[in-house]
Amino acid sequence: MKESDSSTPASAIERAIQLLADGDVIGLPTETVYGLAARVDREEGLKKIFAVKKRPFFDPLIVHVDGAGMARWYVKEWPTAAEALARAFWPGPLSLVLPKSEKVPEIVTSGLPRVAVRAPRQEAALAIIRESGVGLAAPSANLFGRTSPTKAEHVAEEFAGKVFVVPSTPSEVGIESTVLKIDGEKLQILRPGAITAREISEALSAAGLPFQWEEAAQEGSPEAPGQLRHHYMPALPLLLVYGDQKPSREGRGVELQLSKEPAWAARELYAKLRDLSKSGADYIYFRCFPESGGESWQAIMDRLKKAASEIIGPAE
Ligand code: TXA
Ligand code: MG
Repeated sequence: MKESDSSTPASAIERAIQLLADGDVIGLPTETVYGLAARVDREEGLKKIFAVKKRPFFDPLIVHVDGAGMARWYVKEWPTAAEALARAFWPGPLSLVLPKSEKVPEIVTSGLPRVAVRAPRQEAALAIIRESGVGLAAPSANLFGRTSPTKAEHVAEEFAGKVFVVPSTPSEVGIESTVLKIDGEKLQILRPGAITAREISEALSAAGLPFQWEEAAQEGSPEAPGQLRHHYMPALPLLLVYGDQKPSREGRGVELQLSKEPAWAARELYAKLRDLSKSGADYIYFRCFPESGGESWQAIMDRLKKAASEIIGPAE
């Protein structure tokens, strides 16, 4: 077998494939965040995902595939819009939610009639999926509610070395995929991510396909389980501060500074939250700047708001 990329030896890919076949879970590098993966056809492995993460069963898992061909095994229908979006954005950070086929066990979708499918862009992940010949269900590889991992060492640390992590480069996108529900011509963002609604609209228009946007799913909506108010939380409390207000907390605060370029800010966000949590300070704070209201900041601000214990300043 050839090496999938210089940072992942072929032996690690082989070991991952074997562990998955044996019904175990592995740390899977992807371009968004690292996942905790099991084969869709190994119930034992799927159960382990929930146990290892301490994840409640109401939160459904994304099925990772090597492309549109494999995605079609897991959905009842593959509309032209899905084909156009897969062509435009796969492999990449877009998960498509469609009616599921009988190949998807209930535990993966939390009993919902729809499944999320996506093809990740990291070479090592694609090689493991392709050679396993089956989809991999994978949530982000963090304990439930905590900060997502963007480096192999984050995963090793999170699960105290108990999970085999496929070594690879840090996740270049840095925040989770956009989750998009497709229901005929109706589209709905269930979770904002690296691919924006505008980019999705442009791709569909370029393919000459009609569509209408439904309002994005709200927290706690049954359409988007798992999109909880408290999520992505670092080990130290995080405060979001608007304007010139002072963080109103006892103790020493340490500032989270992000690049003003959203693609960079997304890439560094979770690693910085993890590093600052170890700084010895009492809390972390982030000053929201005016541009952070724009569309390209939407996914980052969604994560920051959910990770925050307190928001000081304008509610919206
Ligand atoms: O980028 C990503 O999406 C990463 C990498 C590993 O691929 N995965 C990820 O998985 O973020 P997770 O489990 O942390 O978040 C998946 C979220 C769920 O909480 C839920 O909001 C939505 O995706 N989701 C998954 N399946 C769904 C379904 N059938 N219907 C509605 N929402 C679904
Ligand atoms: Mg997650």
